[in-house]
Amino acid sequence: MRTRMHVPPGQFNPDSQGEKTVSNKADITVSYDVSNDFFRLWLDERMNYTSANFDDGPNGPTESLEIAQMNKLAILYDYAHLRPDMRVLDIGCGWGANLQYLSADRGVRDVHGITLSDAQHQEILRRRLPNVVASVCDYRTYEPSVKFDALISICMLEHTATPAQVRAGEHIGVYRDYFRRAHRWTQPGAYFALQTILRNSIPRNRKDIEDMAHITYTMFPGGFAVRLSEVMESASRYWEVVEVKTRRLDYLRTCAQWLERLRGHEQRIRDRFGERIFEEYDRYLSACVTAFEKNYVSLAQYSLKRI
Ligand SMILES: C[S@@+](CC[C@H](N)C(=O)[O-])C[C@H]1O[C@@H](n2cnc3c(N)ncnc32)[C@H](O)[C@@H]1O
Repeated sequence: MRTRMHVPPGQFNPDSQGEKTVSNKADITVSYDVSNDFFRLWLDERMNYTSANFDDGPNGPTESLEIAQMNKLAILYDYAHLRPDMRVLDIGCGWGANLQYLSADRGVRDVHGITLSDAQHQEILRRRLPNVVASVCDYRTYEPSVKFDALISICMLEHTATPAQVRAGEHIGVYRDYFRRAHRWTQPGAYFALQTILRNSIPRNRKDIEDMAHITYTMFPGGFAVRLSEVMESASRYWEVVEVKTRRLDYLRTCAQWLERLRGHEQRIRDRFGERIFEEYDRYLSACVTAFEKNYVSLAQYSLKRI
């Protein structure tokens, strides 16, 4: 297991970060295996670790993170054109919030999920979800025995290309390979509901630059947000973009609620998980609020149709 690399403010140097050209399981351990009990303290009750939809969805406008997360999952269900009699894969399924929604709330008969995190997989097993098969597997080696009717992937594409690959211009090839695999795993007529963080602009002041580097290199090593144009370019050979909607302010509100919940448990987190964990997550979530506010980053949801 790799430990988190702490970069004090003002001391960021990407060349000393041990950057690799392929993101791997050790990176995922840093981001997701702190402790399931830690994430349970400040995520919604089903532990979605991605933006919710506060303004629309079947439950209507809401202030509640729990309801807004259900709105998000319902919108992606519709983007994937899902029905209960289908076989569906969630690529990068986290702690199983969407698997639970699909199987328990929507009665989908054959629900599959892959994650690279052992801790997330343990949580999914703990939930004993009906009709769900989850495994710890890298999408690069995943080969389903039966093709899927639909796909969903919620903020996983960001883990596919490393910052080094983006700098070398190799990332479009990585994203294209991801979309090619997704195409191969599906039946003709399949839809793919995709959600990604977008990198929109670069900060111009030192604090914001360092805080963005903290998110990239300390919190999510090996990952990098995508540009909307890059998704369009790399998906288009395999998937037709039927619908796309950006939702920057929804992610701002999600991060603000996560931060508030984290701070609400400050002493407990410091005592149980250590001072550094609290400080790193406090800085990261504060930086995310700023980043969505200032449009350094945004969020997009897409409905893709197999070509
Ligand atoms: C930001 S989390 C999102 C989790 C979940 N979709 C949600 O909405 O809460 C990213 C997920 O992608 C998974 N992941 C990252 N790289 C992966 C890879 N190479 N193969 C499979 N899953 C991967 C992580 O394990 C994690 O579950």
